[in-house]
Amino acid sequence: MADDLCFITKDTLIIKAPKKSPLVLRMIVLVFAMVCGIYICSMCLKQISIRAKPKIVNLHLAHQPCQPTGIEQWEIPYVHFPTPKTYDRSECACNPVRFFAILSMQRSGSGWFETLLNSHTNVSSNGEIFSVKERRDNISAIENTLDKVYNLDWFSSASKNECTSAVGFKWMLNQGLLGHHEEIRKYFNRRGVSAIFLFRRNLLRRMISVLANTYDRDAKLLNGTHKSHVHSAHEAEILARFKPTINATLLIPNLKTEENTTARALEYFKSTRHIVLYYEDLINNRTKLADVLEFLRVPQQDLKSRQVKIHKGSLSEQVNNWDDIHSTLKGTQYESYLQADYHM
Ligand SMILES: *[C@@H]1O[C@H](CO)[C@@H](O)[C@H](O)[C@H]1NC(C)=O
Ligand SMILES: *[C@@H]1O[C@H](CO)[C@@H](O)[C@H](O)[C@H]1NC(C)=O
Ligand SMILES: *[C@@H]1O[C@H](CO)[C@@H](O)[C@H](O)[C@H]1NC(C)=O
Ligand SMILES: *[C@@H]1O[C@H](CO)[C@@H](O)[C@H](O)[C@H]1NC(C)=O
Ligand SMILES: *[C@@H]1O[C@H](CO)[C@@H](O)[C@H](O)[C@H]1NC(C)=O
Ligand SMILES: *[C@@H]1O[C@H](CO)[C@@H](O)[C@H](O)[C@H]1NC(C)=O
Repeated sequence: MADDLCFITKDTLIIKAPKKSPLVLRMIVLVFAMVCGIYICSMCLKQISIRAKPKIVNLHLAHQPCQPTGIEQWEIPYVHFPTPKTYDRSECACNPVRFFAILSMQRSGSGWFETLLNSHTNVSSNGEIFSVKERRDNISAIENTLDKVYNLDWFSSASKNECTSAVGFKWMLNQGLLGHHEEIRKYFNRRGVSAIFLFRRNLLRRMISVLANTYDRDAKLLNGTHKSHVHSAHEAEILARFKPTINATLLIPNLKTEENTTARALEYFKSTRHIVLYYEDLINNRTKLADVLEFLRVPQQDLKSRQVKIHKGSLSEQVNNWDDIHSTLKGTQYESYLQADYHM
């Protein structure tokens, strides 16, 4: 386009120039045509480059007014001012937002932990968003989903929108997290996402909970609906009536595999800012929750959950083949799993 314009200008000017004009006049016309051409070309180039990166320019402009205040130097990479596409953060536009992800395994208390976090005025933890397979089909699907969450454009019952100051979700290790660990770690470190590991110390109890929950998926003990979490002692009691049978032959290999999975997760994300929590500690020691709020840099508040624990008390009453399990674990490194490990 620019070239065409240049030629047209040059041709018309040359045609108009009289044949007998002196050399000087021709030179002036030629120089004029060249300057004109260069000017047009440079304008075209400028427009192309502006069109190529409009987003970056806009983001810089939008971010400039918000300056993090009262934070320590090390926190700067972890402080964000998202600009959601779908609404305006209005009076909270310059409240800094922290990004987090709860990395856990099924039946490790993460549902309960998340309801506690969401009882905080400024925390939005959006649930197990990667339980939907299309969102974790490949790394670009994963990153798109993460971008939406951290841009505060994800809507769930937990979203607090404009005045959220910590936003995240829970992510099970087997939902693409370990599979794409390298890219995800890079994403976390690039965008300043902090990880909250939540594990269960007693993996035997977790196994019982997994088996019972799997059973209930088909049996639907609560009036024909399957529930993973309950809000009354009565419902908990009904669900706890089912006593799973644990395959004693596979027990130790399965426990080893779980330990390995946990250890790998910690290894992969050791360079990400993180905190490691255990369900048993959270139950026994409420000051652990204060540690979590401190980690997320949100104001201290009392956290509450309406969830009721399903399996409580002695393990021997929760398993069908207790004698088998007992003799399998007795004298091994897993013997401590046979003991009750917390008091309710
Ligand atoms: C927390 O939320 C409240 C109410 O929505 C808001 O007034 C306050 O500024 C928020 N605090 C932070 C630290 O974002
Ligand atoms: C990634 O997965 C999404 C959702 O399934 C799909 O639409 C997209 O085409 C995939 N992209 C690549 C690069 O495979
Ligand atoms: C099942 O439904 C009946 C009638 O609505 C109710 O009384 C009962 O509590 C329910 N049971 C459970 C376990 O939810
Ligand atoms: C335990 O699992 C093994 C391997 O899958 C299987 O061969 C065995 O029959 C199972 N035992 C019981 C009691 O189900
Ligand atoms: C997990 O198991 C794999 C394969 O058995 C092994 O190569 C790896 O070192 C283990 N990782 C950890 C952290 O234990
Ligand atoms: C409870 O947790 C806090 C902080 O994590 C710790 O300092 C304290 O020793 C714990 N208390 C008990 C009784 O374990």
